[in-house]
Amino acid sequence: MSDSSTKPPLRSRAWFDNPDNPDMTALYIERYLNFGLSQQELQSGRPIIGIAQTGSDLSPCNRHHIELAKRVRDGIREAGGIPIEFPVHPIQETGKRPTASLDRNLAYLSLVEVLYGYPLDGVVLTIGCDKTTPALLMAAATVNIPAIALSVGPMLNGWFRGERVGAGTIVWKAREMMAAGEIDYEGFVRLVASSAPSTGFCNTMGTATTMNTLAEALGMQLPGSAAIPATYRDRQEMAYRTGLRIVDMVHEDLKPSDVMTRAAFINAIRVNSAIGGSTNAPVHLNSVARHLGVDLSIEDWQTYGEAVPLLVNLQPAGEYLGEDFYHAGGAPAVINQLMSAGLIQEDVLTVNGRSIGENCRNAAIEDENVIRPFGRPLQKDAGFRVLSGNLFDSAIMKLSVISEEFRRRYLSNPDDPMAFEGRAIVFDGPEDYHARIDDPALAIDEHCILFMRGAGPIGYPGAAEVVNMRAPDYLLRRGVHALPCVGDGRQSGTSGSPSILNASPEAAAGGGLALLKTDDRVRIDLVKCTANMLIDDAELEARRKALKAAGGYAYPAHQTPWQEIQRGLVTQLESGMVLKPAVNYRRLAQGG
Ligand code: FES
Ligand code: MG
Repeated sequence: MSDSSTKPPLRSRAWFDNPDNPDMTALYIERYLNFGLSQQELQSGRPIIGIAQTGSDLSPCNRHHIELAKRVRDGIREAGGIPIEFPVHPIQETGKRPTASLDRNLAYLSLVEVLYGYPLDGVVLTIGCDKTTPALLMAAATVNIPAIALSVGPMLNGWFRGERVGAGTIVWKAREMMAAGEIDYEGFVRLVASSAPSTGFCNTMGTATTMNTLAEALGMQLPGSAAIPATYRDRQEMAYRTGLRIVDMVHEDLKPSDVMTRAAFINAIRVNSAIGGSTNAPVHLNSVARHLGVDLSIEDWQTYGEAVPLLVNLQPAGEYLGEDFYHAGGAPAVINQLMSAGLIQEDVLTVNGRSIGENCRNAAIEDENVIRPFGRPLQKDAGFRVLSGNLFDSAIMKLSVISEEFRRRYLSNPDDPMAFEGRAIVFDGPEDYHARIDDPALAIDEHCILFMRGAGPIGYPGAAEVVNMRAPDYLLRRGVHALPCVGDGRQSGTSGSPSILNASPEAAAGGGLALLKTDDRVRIDLVKCTANMLIDDAELEARRKALKAAGGYAYPAHQTPWQEIQRGLVTQLESGMVLKPAVNYRRLAQGG
């Protein structure tokens, strides 16, 4: 933040009021007049505020932002700014093939161009569906003009036969029910659809609720903004207040780099554990940090996050859904509990100009079934554990979703309580898995570990959410629900599987997973944080040579130009899956 004496002039003046270049000024102004803005407005010295619109018919989760933007505009006008709304490349988590995360960096790139190349003094980031939040925060980080995020809010709770059913999460259960013959296809569709009864993002603690909550924990949203359900009247009011606030932020020159400091990221890591946040969070937060030049590693997630207890009782780890989280106090109540344990650095600045400590000091829990007090958590040590070994340099495991069944079956040897060994079953990409998982020839039993490779940022462009694999039908019928799964792809945040995922480097980038064969023995030790193929070095070396001679790990051909471009430029999941050249461009609004 700068004081007023050092405040830079509004950058939009270079377009609309540049006495050195009257020709261009006239040209710039002329086109913005044709929908009703006046020359007087454009030259009044009032901040021009972009509204980066992620809602569209192709993006149903964020579509309500089209309505909310009207109240954002009201706020901007009221505070003396001029709103200019523009579209962001759509990212629809469930509709985009082959995977929505392919488009995170594309939306990022295009938004950087818009923020840099047009006369915008500040921007409202309309966030919501999974990848929209990181894409927009990444772009704000790179350009570093004053920016404030506004969540679209979660859907209303889903209900089926008197029980809460969570968006995304129910799919895993419904698939099992269909495999077990309890419901037919019609019943499957009905059950899944009942989980998503309104506009908004997924009502479970999936990637969307996680990333929206973390955008607030990072200080990029007004306090309390993340949890308000999309259709509640409070959401409209929050949109209005967000519009009011961004204009002041421009006058204060309060930029993303003032808010998203390393301390803010550490706070967010701790909040992520307390909410039982998605395994996609490290990918996205590490990416935002890299675009800011903030030092953040995958190890930081274990160092700062692992010992934090689980406080939020939301599906998939718990029972409740988005509306309940809001009524229980949302992110401020969780942050307040972590503050009471000294786990939040309280002086970190947020977009409202106050510190996170000031914002959350009086945030009480309103329903202890949904948000537990720090001293009575749902579970201890709810963060991620970071594993390594000859299979990969790093992969993460979400401890909070390890089920009782899983603990009993795999983690109950009294001599070695957190380690297990098994026979590897290896799949090359999701299509291979779907084709062969029920094949009796694989003879999969409860002593097997399922591996998914070819699913990382290069292998399956953008990294597929496919590591959590169901057991074969014949095991489901015997009551074996969760086999250990390991892979170089991601896992949907709405899945409750205790998988080991985001393995980096991926098979397609020369990682150890490429050397694994079905029937190899593998040992996972959750105390030592290791994951190894039990194969001697000579054999591993021979396999490495053979793979090299064969031209490396094969993956499917590019389907689109962007797939090819991104595959050539992208880093691995542990470092945020960013475009390598992009992180060389920082603080563009300040001249790089
Ligand atoms: Fe868009 Fe879950 S699919 S928020
Ligand atoms: Mg997802």
